[in-house]
Amino acid sequence: MHHFAYKDGVLHAEDVPLPRLADEVGTPFYCYSTATLERHYRVLAEAFAGQDAVICFAVKANSNQAVLATMARLGAGMDVVSEGELRRARAAGVAADKIIFAGVGKSRAEMAYALGEGIFGFNVESEAELSALSEVAQSLGATARVALRVNPDVDAKTHAKISTGKSENKFGIPYLRAASLYAEARRLPALDVSGIHMHIGSQITDLAPFRDAFLLMRDLALELRRAGHAIHHLDIGGGLGVPYRGSNDVPPHPDEYARLVKETLGDLEATIYLEPGRMITGNAGILVASVLYAKDGAGKRFTIVDAAMNDLIRPTLYEAYHEVWPVDGSRAGPLALQDIVGPVCETGDYLALERELPAFAEGDLIAVMTAGAYGAVMSSTYNTRLLVPEVLVRGGDYAVVRPRPSFDDLIGLDRLPPWLASS
Ligand code: LLP
Repeated sequence: MHHFAYKDGVLHAEDVPLPRLADEVGTPFYCYSTATLERHYRVLAEAFAGQDAVICFAVKANSNQAVLATMARLGAGMDVVSEGELRRARAAGVAADKIIFAGVGKSRAEMAYALGEGIFGFNVESEAELSALSEVAQSLGATARVALRVNPDVDAKTHAKISTGKSENKFGIPYLRAASLYAEARRLPALDVSGIHMHIGSQITDLAPFRDAFLLMRDLALELRRAGHAIHHLDIGGGLGVPYRGSNDVPPHPDEYARLVKETLGDLEATIYLEPGRMITGNAGILVASVLYAKDGAGKRFTIVDAAMNDLIRPTLYEAYHEVWPVDGSRAGPLALQDIVGPVCETGDYLALERELPAFAEGDLIAVMTAGAYGAVMSSTYNTRLLVPEVLVRGGDYAVVRPRPSFDDLIGLDRLPPWLASS
């Protein structure tokens, strides 16, 4: 459920009409809804209310300070994958002891920084990383709490580029090697290896792969405890999908997901850590663009808008489907089969392909829906296009939570070497 809806024929973000934002901020821009962000967090928190569970929002999905601060005020912890994300979480007011540092390639400098901050713990993905963390922690006189990320070889049945739990993926430690690595880990100084982590992929719309993974996690926890390991926390990752195609692909409700967790892991008396990203911010955000031109190609129309693949890469990178809604919902007239494309010089530069939508004309506004996760965070300045601004709405209020930079800001990042600098 989200809070982008038509009122008197005009698409609104909560109580703010999008044409007003377009006038004041300019297009393209990302627009997030506070009510939607809060609702998604609360629905998940309520689903897990009876369990010992900690929700760590996956910062990679949307790292705007305003979004993180909204989450932090609701009590969320955070899952970070770089020093930059850790700094963002801390700057947004998240307590260090609610932060988990994940990722296959943490540098020693990042480990030291995170230990200095006093984060809850690290999800470690290899033997080599484990030794490095042990050395860094020892040199600082600290103890690092660790969960080993175990790769259960479960098919999450999602797009190949966002599937992480198959044995051919780079993530985690093979399930069958896990027990021996836990035994080795116990011998390393300055580590408290007391958790298990799994994350099998993203945009998962079926509970079955989660069930398979959780049951494997359960078996491993029991086996490790029998071998004398203290296992206190189980980090089940993120991955719950969102409905990109409206009512046509409805993912499991958080209540069903929470029931599954209780059923498979509930009696282990371990704290459950969750790392949801997409399900919190996905449909809490949209990308609003203006139509620049329309042109008729052979058999279909191209609607050229001012947003492009550099602003939202998901259609190009994952063949992702995002609904496109006209901001003016009252327009009558025939629909036209069309591709919505951007100005970037690449054939892969499109936001939507072969859609039956109104025959848009110059100046019309469109909203690319469900763009609040892995949207702005994956944007670039390719073609020397400016990063698009982000706006957060709350009821009838709004704030620009990331302004559009200037061309001077962008070009000024470069430096001329001395031999080119003198005129
Ligand atoms: N935990 C770990 C260890 C992860 O690798 C991820 C996502 C998450 C949690 C959050 O997963 P979520 O709840 O958002 O599914 N850019 C891609 C998605 C990449 C996901 C990477 N890992 C996309 O746009 O679909």
